[in-house]
Order: sequence, then C-alpha cells, then structure tokens
Amino acid sequence: MKKTIFKNYEEMSTAAANIVAAAIGAKPNIVLGLPTGSTPCGMYSNLVAMHKAGKLDFSQVKSFNLDEYVGLQENHNQSYRFFMQTQLFNHVNILPQNTYVPSGTAKNLEEAAALFDKKIEEEGGIDLFVLGIGANGHIGFNEPAASMPAYTHVVDLTKQTIEDNARAFFGGNMKAVPKKAITQGLATILQAKKIILLASGKSKAAAIESIDKKILTLNCPATMLHLHNNVELLVCN
Ligand code: F6R
Repeated sequence: MKKTIFKNYEEMSTAAANIVAAAIGAKPNIVLGLPTGSTPCGMYSNLVAMHKAGKLDFSQVKSFNLDEYVGLQENHNQSYRFFMQTQLFNHVNILPQNTYVPSGTAKNLEEAAALFDKKIEEEGGIDLFVLGIGANGHIGFNEPAASMPAYTHVVDLTKQTIEDNARAFFGGNMKAVPKKAITQGLATILQAKKIILLASGKSKAAAIESIDKKILTLNCPATMLHLHNNVELLVCN
C-alpha cells in the first residue's frame, strides 16, 4: 500500500484530481467509484476546472457512488445525489444516465442494493475507486462492527457518524440526520481495480494509524484495504 503525505489539503486535492484525470485519459469509458463528504470537495473542484479548461472529457465516464442516506429524496439538499450533482455532475459533461447513486427511497431497499451491485458488474466493475474515511475508520458507511454484510446493503449509522454529520452538514441538528444509509459493502469496494483513499485533518489520524499497523480488524473497516494490492493513501494534516 502506497502512502503519500501532502503539505496541505490543496496539494492532496490536486494530486487526487490528477490521478482521476490520468485514469480517464487512459480509459475514456472508465467506471469510477466516488465518495461524498467534505474531503473530496477540493478534488471535485479541480476536476471541474480541468473540464472547463477543455482538458477532461466525461462523456463516456460512468460513476457509482458509495452510499446514500435512507429516506432523503434525491433533491433534498443533504442527499448524496444532490451533493454529487452540485459538486461534480452539473458542471461536467457526464451523462445523467451514467451516474449511479444508491437509492435511499426505493420501496425495497434490499432489492435496490442487490440491483446496484448487479449494475456495477454489468458495467465491467469499478476501475478506480476514490474513498474518504470516517474518524472511526469507516469507509462508505461500513461502520465498525463484529460483522457486516459484504455487498451493498442497508446499515444503521453509529452515534459518532450521526454526530459528525450533524456538525458538518445538518447545522448541528442530530435529529435531522438520517439514522440509516445504504452503502456499498467492503467486498463491493475491494473488487475495484484500483483504490485511492483521501484523508484530511487530525480527526482522521487515529484511523490512518490503524491502517499503518497492517492488522486487519473490522473495528476499523478501512484496515481491510490491505486485502487489495493496488491502494494508495493520500493524506494531509
Ligand atoms: C461518503 C462516505 C464516507 C465519508 C467519510 C468521511 O460517501 O462514504 O465514508 O468518506 O465519512 O467524510 P468527510 O470527508 O466528510 O470527513
């Protein structure tokens, strides 16, 4: 596992965008796995800038997002679909039908989860997955637990994640944060051909230290990335 520590958030975001842009350049019909959250915003704005400068073409790109809150409509301003539209999709020439975000409002969420995995498989699998990481080591919404479903599934969010998200996105209102999400599973994620994980700030230091220990534990789901042979960590303080 390669790890690069950057001087600051801007440098990390530029490096992440360069990796994604190079991958799109090498394979214009690439299948991307994408995260939401505060960490990838800099990467997305760099990608938008490259597109606007005529240097990056998303016309054949397909994307599969990691996760979505259960119960939020797509146009809710805290839904992950809304986030992706406003951070990236609305500003580049990716085709709407090529952007997949798990549905948090499907009547049958389990069925929607299984169909999501099937769609990834039909598209030939994810070529490059960009991940963030939670303070507790979650990736996607795979929270620390004794066991967890391997593939895309519905999950109860932990107290820490609800608190983190309330602070960052729901104006501090814990009650407004959905208590469940639908997330790609660790097995879904680990099937990607290449993975990059972005971690910014002191709050992520403990989770990165756990990865550094090279011990697999579901207490820190991100340690499972050691099971993959093409993972790069991009870290900044
Ligand atoms: C988002 C996701 C989460 C975030 C993580 C870090 O789609 O799956 O795992 O990557 O919670 O969030 P930020 O970047 O806001 O610290």
